[in-house]
Amino acid sequence: MSKKPRLLVTRHMPDNVTARINRDYDATLNPEDRIMGTEDLVRAAEGMDALLICGSERITPDLLSALPDSVRMIATYSVGYEHIDVAAAKAHGLTLSNTPKVLDDAVAEVAMLCLLGAARRAHEGQTLVRTGKWSSWTSTMLLGKQVSGARLGILGMGGIGQTIADAARGFGMDIHYHNRTRLTADEERGAHYHASAADLFAVSDFLSISCPSTNETRGMVNADLIAAMPDGAVIVNTARGDIISDDDLIAALQAGKLSAAGLDVFANEPKLDPRYRELENVFLMPHLGSATVETRDAMGFCCLDNLDAFFQGKPCPTPL
Ligand code: DGY
Repeated sequence: MSKKPRLLVTRHMPDNVTARINRDYDATLNPEDRIMGTEDLVRAAEGMDALLICGSERITPDLLSALPDSVRMIATYSVGYEHIDVAAAKAHGLTLSNTPKVLDDAVAEVAMLCLLGAARRAHEGQTLVRTGKWSSWTSTMLLGKQVSGARLGILGMGGIGQTIADAARGFGMDIHYHNRTRLTADEERGAHYHASAADLFAVSDFLSISCPSTNETRGMVNADLIAAMPDGAVIVNTARGDIISDDDLIAALQAGKLSAAGLDVFANEPKLDPRYRELENVFLMPHLGSATVETRDAMGFCCLDNLDAFFQGKPCPTPL
């Protein structure tokens, strides 16, 4: 690259990613990590060749019509892309990329953390120890739900779902899944396919959500699907909060239909439904699925590999 492309980086990035950005791009950074609204973003994009954004920036038709013509590519530092109107962006002639695969392991680790934390009542155990209220060992204190030998239903069997399945097999779980398309026998590795979500929920002692948020999946995990689950089941969500109906999940947790939930993602983050904070049987995390040093670097490098390819006239490795 002779003249460095001008790149707007909308959020603060890890040091290794920032070093590579500064080496290869004429970059405008956001070290204060201020979240930009549409007007700020359009203003900051003036004269830029490309944007490196996060899930916090919404690429809507309104923003696209105000975006300077100089901007030719948007790379999102996320695997999820529900914050981008992909069809509208493509109609504006923009090239888009995301970060699949590099975060599969990290998100699967948090899925298992949420599953185990919910099943084994980690929040209540932590509270007991930290508040000094733990008086003695007893044979019936905080009894949880056994994970080994239980059936794990996985809703969405892409890279993250398959990695969760691998991790759960290590805990002796029996894997079931529902996906738009059935995997090959090699990919299934003995997992049982269910052609409908209702069939999957009906057999799931534990249910992990790992599908994208789309018009089809938003609000999909509702009272009907939860009612179909075995009594005392556990729901885990590391995908997107809006796939679950909060009212229906909270009602099932309050009624004891579900014994617990492990949630890393929420509708309206970070302003989650406040009722979750009151429920002792929910293990809560603040959207940390991909938050390891290694993975956040890899996500940044994936964005930069796509941007580099674009500005070298090559196909992007992970286009949208
Ligand atoms: C993603 O990549 O979509 C994650 O939710 C961000 O950590």
